[in-house]
Amino acid sequence: MDIHELINRHFESIGWDIEPHNLYDPIAYTLEAGGKRIRPTLVLMACRLFGGDVEKALMPATAIEVFHNFTLLHDDVMDNADTRRKRMTVHKKWDVNTAILSGDAMMIKAYQFLENVPADKLPAALSLFSRTAIEVCEGQQYDVDFERRDDVTIEEYYRMIRLKTAVLLAGSLKLGAILADAPADDADALYDFGIAIGIAFQLRDDYLDVYGDERTFGKKIGGDILCGKRTFLLINALKNGSVSQRQTICQLLKNGGIPAEEKIAAVTAIYDSLDMPKVCADAMEEYYSRAMQALSRITDKDDAEKAPFVEFARSLMGRTE
Ligand code: IPE
Ligand code: IPE
Ligand code: MG
Ligand code: MG
Ligand code: MG
Repeated sequence: MDIHELINRHFESIGWDIEPHNLYDPIAYTLEAGGKRIRPTLVLMACRLFGGDVEKALMPATAIEVFHNFTLLHDDVMDNADTRRKRMTVHKKWDVNTAILSGDAMMIKAYQFLENVPADKLPAALSLFSRTAIEVCEGQQYDVDFERRDDVTIEEYYRMIRLKTAVLLAGSLKLGAILADAPADDADALYDFGIAIGIAFQLRDDYLDVYGDERTFGKKIGGDILCGKRTFLLINALKNGSVSQRQTICQLLKNGGIPAEEKIAAVTAIYDSLDMPKVCADAMEEYYSRAMQALSRITDKDDAEKAPFVEFARSLMGRTE
């Protein structure tokens, strides 16, 4: 069976009709919306590459996806986001307390799913999972801290997105490799491939937050502008814009009196004039080629075996959702 199909069927088979419903309903609501499920896909792809049992990797893959969905519940509170996957976010549909506690429960459920790895792999899987999870928290904290700073450098930005986003993609791949008993060097190469595509993935996310189509992206366009996120676009504009453009951006972001649509349009106009879609595309290409370099370090697999990873990376570069 196709990996995506396997994952989707598995998620459908998990029952969340449990008391208290106010704890579990928001979890069911979040997971049934699906999303792209790229992280469990990466777990299974890595496992398959090294000849592991893909069915046995389903539970740990679920652990990663449930963990990811937990971060989204809390992230939407932190980012004051009303919409995700074309639906109301949990804190909007229920309330903030619900998003906090259902999110907490999801993190714990994630660990319970992870308990299902074979005993000999459990220490390595647990240690990778926890290290990755704490790094995501670190990245999220930098992301929030940066909102209050006008001097965030591009290097700091890359470090932040590596933590908040890339390590989870990388960790997914490494987990799959561990489950399949891959050689350590190959698992590390795949991890580095994941970091590179993860960085490109977040660059694309920042781009889509401005230039995406709400109907396919499923999140409100301009959300990052409204909460003053130090995105790749904003940092570049503050670095390469003219003095007056930089002043305009700073004033717009600080002024709470300007209507949201006006603010988004004005900042977007500056991004347009700085050719930001191309700046983003070039940066993504750089990380795509780093991903390919990392993949080439896996010497005991041929191009045909690696093709799904190349294809996957390519599809992320052009994603619209
Ligand atoms: C959203 O992740 C959070 C980011 C790291 C940008 P996805 O874009 O993978 O979200 P879903 O799971 O497909 O909805
Ligand atoms: C997401 O970053 C990172 C995590 C959820 C850990 P964003 O805040 O950009 O993600 P979206 O755009 O809300 O999905
Ligand atoms: Mg966020
Ligand atoms: Mg967010
Ligand atoms: Mg985003």
